[in-house]
Amino acid sequence: MITVSLILALLSSVQSQNPTTVKHVTGSLDENGVCHCAINLPDSTFPADRLEYLEIYNRNLSISVEQQVTKIHSYELLVTMCMEKLKNLTAWVEKVEKGELSYTELDFELLKLEITEMEALIVQLKDSLNGTNAIVETLYAEIHNISTLVHQMESYDKNNVLAIRRDIVILQKRLEECRKQVNSSHPPPHPPPVKYGSCEHGEIVNISKPFVVQLNYLGSSYLRGGFGKDSVMGGGKGSYFVAPLQTSDSRLMNVFRTYATYNDVTIYKMLGEKVLSKYNPSSGRNDDYTNCGQGSGATLYNDFLYYNCYNSRNLCKLNVDTNAVTRLTLTDAAYNNRFSYAQSTFQDIDTASDEDGLWVIYSTEQDFGNFVISKLNDTSFTVEQTWRTSQYKPAATNAFMACGVLYATRALNTQTEEIYYMYDTKTGKESYLSIPYDKMKETVHSLSYNPNEHKLYMYNDGFLATYDITFQLVESEKSRV
Ligand SMILES: *[C@@H]1O[C@H](CO)[C@@H](O)[C@H](O)[C@H]1NC(C)=O
Ligand SMILES: *[C@@H]1O[C@H](CO)[C@@H](O)[C@H](O)[C@H]1NC(C)=O
Ligand SMILES: *[C@@H]1O[C@H](CO)[C@@H](O)[C@H](O)[C@H]1NC(C)=O
Ligand SMILES: *[C@@H]1O[C@H](CO)[C@@H](O)[C@H](O)[C@H]1NC(C)=O
Ligand SMILES: *[C@@H]1O[C@H](CO)[C@@H](O)[C@H](O)[C@H]1NC(C)=O
Ligand SMILES: *[C@@H]1O[C@H](CO)[C@@H](O)[C@H](O)[C@H]1NC(C)=O
Ligand SMILES: *[C@@H]1O[C@H](CO)[C@@H](O)[C@H](O)[C@H]1NC(C)=O
Repeated sequence: MITVSLILALLSSVQSQNPTTVKHVTGSLDENGVCHCAINLPDSTFPADRLEYLEIYNRNLSISVEQQVTKIHSYELLVTMCMEKLKNLTAWVEKVEKGELSYTELDFELLKLEITEMEALIVQLKDSLNGTNAIVETLYAEIHNISTLVHQMESYDKNNVLAIRRDIVILQKRLEECRKQVNSSHPPPHPPPVKYGSCEHGEIVNISKPFVVQLNYLGSSYLRGGFGKDSVMGGGKGSYFVAPLQTSDSRLMNVFRTYATYNDVTIYKMLGEKVLSKYNPSSGRNDDYTNCGQGSGATLYNDFLYYNCYNSRNLCKLNVDTNAVTRLTLTDAAYNNRFSYAQSTFQDIDTASDEDGLWVIYSTEQDFGNFVISKLNDTSFTVEQTWRTSQYKPAATNAFMACGVLYATRALNTQTEEIYYMYDTKTGKESYLSIPYDKMKETVHSLSYNPNEHKLYMYNDGFLATYDITFQLVESEKSRV
């Protein structure tokens, strides 16, 4: 069996008062494949004994996870993969340590979010093992302990945090692998009956816990913005986009980035960046906002970005390859923060997409601020049909479309959102429902559905998160399982 032993370079940074110089510590390998290394610690106010404890602790934890994985499945391929990932992640963390990637005071917050995620993962693991596994119980307790330690460590220097963070990332990946193995060796009694892209199912019945993907690439002060994945059926190029709004006026979208894969979003490895504002000769500055967006309601659909054009009732359609922009005027649509959402300003005109195609969610004076839904033809870029509802748009925190149904959300408290209203464009029926779900931060700035994977994408006070959606089974499918 291969034993992977994690060597922390974290202590080395304690020796230096200068946080930019990281000394690498060399180690030796014994016959069991366990790496040993010795580090001299200077006498300082830093609680080195606790750190050392944490190190041993983490090593024990890793070994436990490994034993777990080994028990479940043949292991070698997995280890190779883990090593690959570990190398990649280590390289990434080293980059952070060298200051090539900028890290803000929110490191701790991200760390804490990740620990929360890990706790959730462990709970799942416990559930799937039917609560009989002592090792998993221990892991659970130990992750709680780490969480406590991290809180204690919060007052100490940044490089140590990053080293712990590296460990946590690695642990997280392993738990993920472990969970996958558990799943594959215990296939669920009910095979997933819902086909992606099909609407042969009922309404939404449940939403998972959030999966925190990353902080947006501009940092923690960029609270507002949009996040999503190309939602055309079949996926287009499958790119992801992140569009933080400028902090200066809380409505200007003048830049966004695309990412080829989910992993690239998490490591900030962009595919491309588009700057939408243009040079204005009369002012001599880059302040021609004609092609810019307003609010956080953008949607990436078939390699075009759709959004409310800045300071207008127009929709913009931007060709991500060529930068060409075309426009569509939404007759009577209210704009400039007249009927935005409850906690997110300047999102009067919100785009959406689902199994049926592209939609726009907005309101007008004639509709007294109630939700208006228009189905768009994305090729001709025209409005095909419009539906009017009796639900006041500014009472909702956001809305999205799934299978031709508008779902509107509201905040239950600072930690919980709820889908509370739906309008079915196929039947014209509206109804109230209650599907609560957790959020990491207080304010939701964008929420959109992706029919290719039944996921929701959320931009949550600067953080990017995803959720899995469960739809109700219809009778024919219930009888099949
Ligand atoms: C780590 O594991 C070893 C051997 O199982 C044990 O002696 C030690 O007490 C453990 N340390 C911690 C901090 O859990
Ligand atoms: C590690 O990074 C390399 C290059 O960036 C990439 O080709 C490879 O797929 C990555 N491996 C994993 C397991 O993510
Ligand atoms: C959990 O274990 C109990 C007893 O060992 C068993 O009766 C039950 O079917 C198991 N449940 C699952 C979901 O595996
Ligand atoms: C958690 O930490 C406390 C105090 O530091 C310790 O008494 C306890 O044994 C630890 N639990 C585990 C499972 O390591
Ligand atoms: C593992 O199974 C649980 C339910 O048993 C499910 O929620 C989870 O998404 C599965 N994870 C993976 C990686 O397949
Ligand atoms: C609904 O999702 C929550 C997580 O948000 C989960 O704890 C719960 O078990 C799910 N309920 C059903 C019936 O799937
Ligand atoms: C959308 O517009 C294109 C181009 O005008 C047209 O060919 C197509 O039939 C339209 N689609 C629908 C569903 O009306």
